[in-house]
Parts: sequence; structure tokens; C-alpha cells
Amino acid sequence: TASNFVNIVEVGPRDGLQNEKGTIPVDVKVELINRLSHAGLKTIEAGSFVSPKWVPQMAGTAEVLSGIQQREGNHYPVLVPNQKGLDNLLCLPRLTDEIAIFTAATDAFTKANLNTTTAESLVRLRPVAEQAIKNGLRVRGYVSVVIACPYSGKTDYGKVREVAKELLDMGCYEVSLGDTVGMGTPDEVAEMIEEVKKSVPVEKLAGHFHDTYGTAIANVIAALSQGIRTIDSSVGGLGGCPYSPGATGNVATEDVLYALQGSQYHVVGSHGSSGGVNLDEVVEIGWWISEKLGRESVSRAGRAIRAK
Ligand code: HMG
Ligand code: MG
Repeated sequence: TASNFVNIVEVGPRDGLQNEKGTIPVDVKVELINRLSHAGLKTIEAGSFVSPKWVPQMAGTAEVLSGIQQREGNHYPVLVPNQKGLDNLLCLPRLTDEIAIFTAATDAFTKANLNTTTAESLVRLRPVAEQAIKNGLRVRGYVSVVIACPYSGKTDYGKVREVAKELLDMGCYEVSLGDTVGMGTPDEVAEMIEEVKKSVPVEKLAGHFHDTYGTAIANVIAALSQGIRTIDSSVGGLGGCPYSPGATGNVATEDVLYALQGSQYHVVGSHGSSGGVNLDEVVEIGWWISEKLGRESVSRAGRAIRAK
């Protein structure tokens, strides 16, 4: 039986900002990450070592990593799509202890996101994972479009299971299952996780839900009910994938923290078991970064708490 401790992977500085059109200065990203770690978030995805031609907003990730105050025991993973990304990371002084590699459950999405097929992406990622591990890095894996694909419709959950298993076999310590499009319903999410659990221990899975249709928080609860204990979320509900047209941000970190208050689940934070992650601080950060981007926070809990 699963413990009731829930880990949050804060993906706002990466998934949240990667799709923004205007340039976000490095010092804003640094302040965002520092404030998130101050609020108690232990794992904060800091950016990506991807092609700046593909995702210009993530270009300054090395500067971001060297600018932040890294709290002992925290993790600041970065996305790495290929060998070149790992080479670029490893030729610098050690900036992080973790990378995330990513692929998808459909060829059409992998083609749009990585310019290759899913099978070929796995062939290319295996040596990247192995070399990263040899260099003392933890490797996390992502499978995108686990419920539906913007290009090929409903996803075959058996394919999600196969890809997740391959990522674990190449050394990933955890695989995050991404509803990239944000179309999933709680029943679909439960069914998909049940399928993946046939080949993969649930302790090695995380849930990553975009909120396009308003089901992300319900999907978080469905994933917890299935035994998943790691949830990806984004402060202020920021985000979207440039290769998933129309998809909105991730489930808001504030909304997850609010929904789990007083429940059987305890969110693990760096402020110890009593403190967890400070919801009020995360709400303030959600408003601060949203206003930097010229809009209001879309976190429902964030709006309600601010209005009180
Ligand atoms: P490609 O065009 O096939 O690559 O793209 P290439 O090897 O032909 O290289 C093209 C150019 O990019 C070359 O430069 C390379 O040097 C350079 P040029 O010679 O033309 O000057 N390049 C790089 N530069 C910096 N870092 C690198 C790198 N690689 C090549 N790592 C490639 C293939 C994988 C590079 C491209 O498709 C890419 O960068 N994709 C990343 C896309 C991305 O970041 N998507 C968003 C993240 S995934 C996501 O959001 C989903 C997730 O949230 C989960 C979910 O919601 O489902 C994780
Ligand atoms: Mg995402």
C-alpha cells in the first residue's frame, strides 16, 4: 500500500514559461525559482537544454541554473532532448543533479516535438540516459499525450505502458505521464494508469496534467487514488506545450495544495512535515509571475485566496 506522502514537481519555470512569446529576463526566472524554493517546493524544473530554434524561451537555462540559490536536498531538473543537450550541460561546471528526457505515446506527437519517431527517440535517448547516470545525474522520463494526441486522436494506453517501461529500463528513476492536451477525464486517467501498472510499479510513476478542459485537479485525485504519489504542477497554472496547439497550463500548484489540505495526503516540502509547502506564499508567487507576464493568475485557489 502506498504512503500518503505526496511529492510535487513544480514545473512552472519550464513548462509554465516555455510557450511565452515575449522574452522573460533571466533575473525574473531566477527570482521565480528562488521564491518557489523559499515556499517549500523541493523539486523545481528550471528550464531546458533544447534547441533554441525550437523553443527560444528556454535559451538562458544555464544562466538561470547558475543564478539561483540551490537549497540543500532540493532538485532543479532540466529537460534534455538529445545528446547535444547533454553535451551542452556536461561541458559546464556542474549546474544540476537531474535531467528529464522526454518522448511520447504517438509518433505524430514525437515528430512534432522531437522531429523523429517514438521508437527512434528511445534509441537516441538510451545512451543519453546512460551517460547522464554515469555522470552522477538522476534521470526522469516523460511520456506525452498519454490520453489523447492533438494529431492522432485517442491514445492507445498499451503504447503508454510500453514507452514508460522502456524509459525505466534505460535508467529513469521515475516516469511522468503527461496529459499534454489536457483532455483527459478522471475515468480515462484511472484506466490509463491501470494499464501502465501492468508493467511498471506505481511508485515509479508521476502524473502531469494540463487543464484545458478543467479536469486537471480531478485527474490529480484520480491519479492519487491509483497510488501515484508524485504530481507535476505549475505555479499560477502557467504553461502549455508549443507543439500542443490550444492546450492550457498545468494544474496549478496552489490548487493541488488547496485540494489536499486536511486530506489523507501530506505534501512533502522542505519545511518539514508540519509545514509542507506554504500555500499563501505560492499564491503570491502565482500572482507575481502572472503579472510579470501581463495577466492575472488563473489558479482558482490563487484567485479566491487573494480575493479574501
Ligand atoms: P532537429 O532540428 O531535428 O535537430 O530537432 P538537429 O540535430 O537537426 O539540430 C538542429 C539545430 O539545433 C542545429 O543547429 C543543432 O546544433 C541545434 P544549427 O546547426 O542549425 O545551427 N540543436 C541544439 N541546440 C541546443 N541544444 C540542443 C540541440 N539539439 C540540436 N539540445 C531537437 C531535434 C530534439 C533538437 C528539437 O526537436 C528540440 O529541441 N525539441 C525540443 C522541443 C521541446 O522542448 N518541447 C517542449 C518540451 S516537452 C513538453 O512540454 C511536454 C511535457 O511537459 C510533458 C507533457 O505535457 O506531456 C514534458
Ligand atoms: Mg507539459
